[in-house]
Amino acid sequence: MKILVLYYTQTGQLRQILESILSGISDSVDIDYTVIEPVTPFPFPWTALQFFDAMPETVEHIPVPVKPLSPAITNNKYDLIIFGYQPWFLNPSQPTTGFLNTADAKIFKDTPVITVVGCRNMWLHAQEKVKGYLTSVNARLVGNIVLTDTNPNLVSLLTVIRWSFKGQKHASGMLPAAGVQDADISGAKRFGNTIYKHWKTDNLIDLQRDLLAQGAVQLKPGLVVLEQRGIKNFRFWAKFIREKGGPGDPNRAGRVMLFKNLLLVAIFILSPISSFTALIKQLVKRNSLLKDVEYFKQLEYEKGRL
Ligand SMILES: Cc1cc2nc3c(=O)[nH]c(=O)nc-3n(C[C@H](O)[C@H](O)[C@H](O)COP(=O)(O)O)c2cc1C
Repeated sequence: MKILVLYYTQTGQLRQILESILSGISDSVDIDYTVIEPVTPFPFPWTALQFFDAMPETVEHIPVPVKPLSPAITNNKYDLIIFGYQPWFLNPSQPTTGFLNTADAKIFKDTPVITVVGCRNMWLHAQEKVKGYLTSVNARLVGNIVLTDTNPNLVSLLTVIRWSFKGQKHASGMLPAAGVQDADISGAKRFGNTIYKHWKTDNLIDLQRDLLAQGAVQLKPGLVVLEQRGIKNFRFWAKFIREKGGPGDPNRAGRVMLFKNLLLVAIFILSPISSFTALIKQLVKRNSLLKDVEYFKQLEYEKGRL
């Protein structure tokens, strides 16, 4: 079995997750790891201005240039591609979108693909966009594995801010370490065995069912409500900021910082109120949200669902 693992990562977390998934089967399969590399690397740690300035182009899916894959990879035929990516601002990270817009994305054509997401905890809309791209190049999505930081929402926000702006991942003060918990990363090994078993028995059609039974995707109805709200606001702000110029343009810095401040107020000050109204929405729309949860755990793609 020949597997291509194609991914982008800033901190190395996603590479760790992917290696863990494949750790139990690496002796039985042939694996090529390939990194998606933007022509101009994104900063890490970020300044606040750089970080929030990345929002508009991420949300509007304006592709950044990425380096082409080597011919050794593109001339190969793989039995399976594992595509690792992370959401930025509820959309695929810019290098991910950049890659999906290159001619190299045809590597997915007619090939089984498993998406692997490593993120804080908001990934639904990003996965819808990735599903859309994969559909447009005739890939066959056969699985999806999502690893999130399972700490309470505000805790994971504080730790991701410390990680992104200071580069500090480890625990300090009252706060735990940032990112996906180590135990969840090492536990991801179980998914590799399931993938291999399904491939060997030519039964990739039932793979997602078994991955779900192993807890590959954890999803609460509240996330659907939060993402619906967030994405609407991000689209408005993306357009508003881009009226003043492109990435890094000093003319738009004022609007970028206004967006940053309002987002932080919304998250830290208004969040108890908005959690309450989200809860009401969950109660009122319970049945349709439960249907949404079922849809988001599966692999089908319905354009415009979120
Ligand atoms: C600019 C930026 C925006 C992010 N937005 C989200 C988001 O919308 N949802 C989420 O769950 N995580 C978000 N994250 C966290 C990432 O998905 C990811 O977990 C983290 O950046 C580490 O990933 P990496 O080292 O594999 O690149 C964001 C990170 C960055 C840098």
